[in-house]
Amino acid sequence: MTTSDHDLDPGALASRFPPGFVWGFGTSAYQIEGAAAEEGRGPSIWDTFSRVPGAIADGQTGDVACDHYHRFPEDIGLMARIGARAYRFSVSWPRVQPGGTGAGNEPGLEFYDRLVDAVLAAGIRPLVNLFHWDLPQPLQDRGGFADAAIVDRFGDYADLVASRLGDRVTDWMTFNEPAVFAFLGHADGIHAPGLRDWPTALRVVDNELRAHARASAVIRSRVRGARIGVAFDMNHVAPATHTDRDRLAAAQWSSARDAWFLDPLFGRGYPQLGLEAHRAAGHLDGVELGDPPPGDLDYLGLNYYRRDAVSARSNAPFDWTIDARPGTEQTQMNWEVAPDGLRDVLLALHREYAPREIAVTENGAAYPDSLDPDGRVRDDVRISYLARHVAAAAEALEAGVPLTGYYVWSLLDNYEWSLGYTRRFGLVHVDFANQRRTPKASADWYARLIAATR
Ligand code: FCB
Repeated sequence: MTTSDHDLDPGALASRFPPGFVWGFGTSAYQIEGAAAEEGRGPSIWDTFSRVPGAIADGQTGDVACDHYHRFPEDIGLMARIGARAYRFSVSWPRVQPGGTGAGNEPGLEFYDRLVDAVLAAGIRPLVNLFHWDLPQPLQDRGGFADAAIVDRFGDYADLVASRLGDRVTDWMTFNEPAVFAFLGHADGIHAPGLRDWPTALRVVDNELRAHARASAVIRSRVRGARIGVAFDMNHVAPATHTDRDRLAAAQWSSARDAWFLDPLFGRGYPQLGLEAHRAAGHLDGVELGDPPPGDLDYLGLNYYRRDAVSARSNAPFDWTIDARPGTEQTQMNWEVAPDGLRDVLLALHREYAPREIAVTENGAAYPDSLDPDGRVRDDVRISYLARHVAAAAEALEAGVPLTGYYVWSLLDNYEWSLGYTRRFGLVHVDFANQRRTPKASADWYARLIAATR
């Protein structure tokens, strides 16, 4: 894909999107809220995991994070000034139901009441995500998502939140990145709860799919006209070289990871190639997979960041490495910048699964931003990243993909999981020493793009 400076100009880009296109921001509870022990909030698996020595790059927790729990009016004001049309945030399960079961925690529920009211008052459409990985610790103590009982627990939790916010919120998301939660948390051990066991990870997936179906039914029964989706993260998976071995490895990985969720969600059950790969690697030993229920989706959310190149070490499934290709443009995450991959993933999803609607529910980049002496953050490299991805989204739209929205990750610099506060994804800079917020140049750029889409 070739793009000139003119093509990346916000006015020129905006002309490629329809007037009602939803430009938004995404955040998640544990990454921004802080107030970890306030007003009845219980511990989550991230409170536990972030305290494991060596688990987090800078040894930090989300105890304070962006202190959004106390500063949300300011943050919504920032979003409103940028002109955001939608705000995707997550509810902290341990804040509204500390034990993961039973009665709700009234102050926690009131916080989300106030948040939703403030978002609506700012003319912004709320999108409520039920699960962005911060499972109540007491539920993990009973097996967490690996235990089938979680499906009932998740349904009850969905009921609690939908009953409370459903009079004002139409847009819902059951899960953020169920693959990352299952695989990084239960097979790779680099996210909470920090387990390293593939059979457990595959049980978790099975239960996530059932929990999605259960929660969707609950939300529909509580919220008239609800629009329900999942945010699935998919990178542009490509063989590292053109050898047959790398090609096969890339195909197996896509099937064992991406299609492992998407095929069931679209009513096809688990994919054959993925089943063979997981089985050959011993991941299904002792696992009884049922027939996962089809997902009930008004829209499919796509979280897209990068290209993943797969190189096989041998012919055995899972004996491969996944990386950025050397010499390519990369962000501070060492993620390969691949805007054409966003277009191609959108086209592939449309062709393969034909969801009614697709929204890019996350896209963004970490760079080592700093405040200049004049107090400004000149993140031109982020602007370039965003502009090229927005251009790729426009190409997909022009090719017939029913793309309805784009949410930048993220509003604020925040707690980047196992990397702590060492990576900045915000369009608004946060000085964690004093919680000062400073919109970056990219925030001005986004504001111009949104203002020009009418
Ligand atoms: C996604 C997560 C989000 C954030 C971005 C950078 O995987 O959903 O919370 O960490 O990556």
